[in-house]
Amino acid sequence: MTQLQITAFGDPSVLSLTPSQDKVPAEGEVRVRICYAGVNPIDAKTRAGLGWAAAQNKDKLPWTPGYDMAGVVAALGPGVDSLKVGDKVCGMVGFPLEGGAYAESILAQAALLVPLEEVSLKQGAALPLAGLTAWQGLFEHGELKQGQSVLILAGAGGVGHLAVQWARASGARVTVLASPDNHGFLHGLGAERLVDYHDPDWVAQVGRVELVLDLVGGDSGKAALDCVAEGGRLITVPTITAEAIKLAGSERGIEVRGMLVQPNPGQLAQMLTLLRLGEAQICISGEFDLADGALAHAAIEGGHTRGKLLLRMPGASLDE
Ligand SMILES: NC(=O)c1ccc[n+]([C@@H]2O[C@H](COP(=O)([O-])OP(=O)(O)OC[C@H]3O[C@@H](n4cnc5c(N)ncnc54)[C@H](OP(=O)(O)O)[C@@H]3O)[C@@H](O)[C@H]2O)c1
Repeated sequence: MTQLQITAFGDPSVLSLTPSQDKVPAEGEVRVRICYAGVNPIDAKTRAGLGWAAAQNKDKLPWTPGYDMAGVVAALGPGVDSLKVGDKVCGMVGFPLEGGAYAESILAQAALLVPLEEVSLKQGAALPLAGLTAWQGLFEHGELKQGQSVLILAGAGGVGHLAVQWARASGARVTVLASPDNHGFLHGLGAERLVDYHDPDWVAQVGRVELVLDLVGGDSGKAALDCVAEGGRLITVPTITAEAIKLAGSERGIEVRGMLVQPNPGQLAQMLTLLRLGEAQICISGEFDLADGALAHAAIEGGHTRGKLLLRMPGASLDE
């Protein structure tokens, strides 16, 4: 068994393949043979030593990144009766500190895993963290209701392209900020209005909306405060700039909330149902072998990924 680990924070080259042993699942746990792991910006930020998870992990290296995974249940711990050996499952695991999904094998709480049924392992690995962030950002923190208007910054990214679909499915009217190259893609997913964030006039083009889902943070998040209608709110998702945007909002009397995504198998099951029924789709724009994890990190750090990136484990067959 192999895993991709870091022994020090740094650029993508600090990721290195190391051997690992299969562990025995404890009470309530299962061992999963991972086929695909999802790549998220937090994996790369933590690898670089940035953010809360890095601060918490700095004295606990080596660290194996990865929170999103899909694979096959290989062993059951005592007391597990919700899953059986051979089930295909996905889940968000080890969040926010332990990680561990950039590996061929992992121990996970059975209660956090959801059977894939007819959804593919690739889709299952791409969905959890981004899908849950979009869902919780829109409906729990954002309190988005049918018929309301929402602006999604970074609509074409991992979280954004799912947020567009969850918002549309709830009956909201969706405006997105994205490069022109992504406008056709996002229109196809249900976005009604498409605005190019390179246009210096983008705030005026958007006008006022009831909810802003800020997936960019920093100056873009601050600028988007001008798009919040009276009584509306802005949810800022990148944690590193959340405090600054909350402060800017409070100075102007605009409600700004930050968030940290939480594992939620019930919500994950609902999203898998939407995929199974063909009512939503996940765009997977890149797949890398586990050994090429550094290339995947360089790509996600480029900041212009469309949809999701995956890591493929050595044992995953190409048609899974
Ligand atoms: N707090 C939490 O719990 C939590 C959870 C998940 C994610 N996050 C954070 O949320 C952010 C988004 O995550 P993600 O996975 O969706 O990232 P991602 O997939 O890497 O996002 C890439 C997208 O960002 C777009 N983009 C880049 N600069 C932009 C700008 N100035 N304005 C508008 N769009 C821009 C790009 O679109 P173009 O190609 O069109 O430029 C690209 O499609 C990240 O910072 C991540 O760390 C936080």
